[in-house]
Amino acid sequence: KEVDINLESLEKGGFDHFMLKEIYDQPRCISDCMRGRLLLKEKRIVLSTINLHRNELVNAGRFVIVACGTSWHAGLIGKQLIEQWAKIPVEVEYASEFRYRNPVILPGDVVIAISQSGETADTLAAFELAKKSGALCFGIVNAVGSSIARASDTGIYIHVGPEIGVASTKAFTGQVTVLTLFALALGHELGTIPQQEYEDTIEELGRIPGKIKTVLEKDSKIKDIARTLTYAENALYMGRGYNYPVALEGALKLKEISYIHAEGYPAAEMKHGPIALIDEDMPVVFVATHHQLYKKILSNIEEVKARNGRIIAIVTEGDEAVSDIAEATIEVPPTLAPLAPLLSVIPLQLTAYHVAVEKGLNVDQPRNLAKSVTVE
Ligand code: G6P
Repeated sequence: KEVDINLESLEKGGFDHFMLKEIYDQPRCISDCMRGRLLLKEKRIVLSTINLHRNELVNAGRFVIVACGTSWHAGLIGKQLIEQWAKIPVEVEYASEFRYRNPVILPGDVVIAISQSGETADTLAAFELAKKSGALCFGIVNAVGSSIARASDTGIYIHVGPEIGVASTKAFTGQVTVLTLFALALGHELGTIPQQEYEDTIEELGRIPGKIKTVLEKDSKIKDIARTLTYAENALYMGRGYNYPVALEGALKLKEISYIHAEGYPAAEMKHGPIALIDEDMPVVFVATHHQLYKKILSNIEEVKARNGRIIAIVTEGDEAVSDIAEATIEVPPTLAPLAPLLSVIPLQLTAYHVAVEKGLNVDQPRNLAKSVTVE
């Protein structure tokens, strides 16, 4: 028993929980994920899938992403990235819905399954259905040799190492990194991304691991801010553009490990319902970094303030306008809009973690949840 305990603490690398270790692993994981793929000196991206399946990928009529949970959130970001740079339409579906609704799969469709474990039953079934319909099956998977990896015609491994904490963290940033590399490389092949933007994004991707480290250094401040949420019964998470899926992911993290009811929303949808919930007991977490919709989200924040909601905001370093209104802010370094999720999700992961620890909950194995859902 003693040996077991020591082994476990060794595996946690000095951290109290696997989840915290995995959050802190992210700078290294993202570097591992980009190794040999992001060639900084040559300013280009090399992906074997694009060499091997160039024709099918470049001529894809549509991408359909199937996934569950956190991987589905990564898919929503992937949609924006692929549409932005490769100009090919993308649909993102819950694998569990896709598999049972007689989906239309057209010749030339590429179906992307995103899965950390590679064993999620619904995602595997959706993928197999796509294969039967003749689509090219593209896997974005962490677990090498898993069922979804084996069912793939091609794909990209995430390569972030085993993830133990039930709430996914480093697999999410790994998935988003892979989708970014893929969308950039595809856009470059198609000539749909301007060369300068391609090179600037590559350079900035190279800086992302260092910038994640900068966010991790804010951990003690994040821990203090997390106290606002500890006694809350509900919370709202709002984001726009690339940060909208980040809001969904922040809310999911809080639900999963802190057992606080949280909803993520695209901020402009607030006026169509959630605004009715806002009072002095409702914490609202805004992901409001300095990107294209900053001014719009600022006015959403003002609307919450006017109704006495408690505002926590993720902002870009040096932000003034949101910081003046919010009860608390967490700064992240500036980056390009399409890469924003890789930084803005980190404080949300840490927030959920600290709330769960503060409530004395089992962070790594939350009640009723499984790491890998191999049954329906
Ligand atoms: C479970 C896990 C989640 C995960 C989801 C999809 O619900 O608890 O963290 O996001 O399954 O898992 P996958 O392995 O397919 O990414």
